Amino acid sequence: MLGNIISVDGFSSTGKSTLASKLAEHYNFYYLNSGLMYRIISYFALNNDCIIKDKIKESKLINKLNNLNFDWVIDKNGNKSLSFDGKIFGEKMYSFEISDIVSTVAKLESVRNFLFRQQKNLALQKSIVVEGRDIGTVVFPDAKVKFFLSAELDIRTKRRNKQIKESNISFDTKKVEDNLIKRDKIDSERKIAPLKKAEDAFEIDTSKKSQFEVFNIAKNYIDSNFQF
Ligand code: C5P
Repeated sequence: MLGNIISVDGFSSTGKSTLASKLAEHYNFYYLNSGLMYRIISYFALNNDCIIKDKIKESKLINKLNNLNFDWVIDKNGNKSLSFDGKIFGEKMYSFEISDIVSTVAKLESVRNFLFRQQKNLALQKSIVVEGRDIGTVVFPDAKVKFFLSAELDIRTKRRNKQIKESNISFDTKKVEDNLIKRDKIDSERKIAPLKKAEDAFEIDTSKKSQFEVFNIAKNYIDSNFQF
């Protein structure tokens, strides 16, 4: 049985992670970053000889993924994080190498099917905020509350640059914008589960809003329309 689900979909660097994690904290829900799952699978593929010169060996990858699972890890303070094959993956997942390949990996039907099943399992018996690209349309079309975030490209590039500077990742500034454009295009144009707004999603343009304002808009929308 699934619990309450809040989906937060949208373009890259529109503030999905910030909003989704704040909502999860506020309502005491689990927070699932499905983009991180695609990044971990891309990292796994790169490190298991399943990507050679940008070509993905799909059946080799899927065979290797067989029997591996994502799971929740809860530390002694009650903080929840995601593990894959028993390991936790951090900032490295946001390197240029992975950002460059992740949308190509995410186009593959077998990878999407694998992660679809994993996402369903992670949500069993839980109330959860899930962020991604196809959460309100494909993975959890019956989600109780759906958000779709958008923002102007130059603002998204600035935000992503700032985020990168704050972490220890080296990433050429010009490449940031190119990577956002490239991923948005592949994500929106792919055949399976393309990025699009669910008809019943509440859209927030985050371009000129602070994180605090976006959170308050979302929270007011939830509190005035839904009961958990
Ligand atoms: O959210 P994030 O930018 O980390 O996602 C990385 C990539 O993973 C996206 O650009 C997209 O290609 C893929 N993705 C997806 N479906 C999701 C979440 C992410 O295809 N639900």
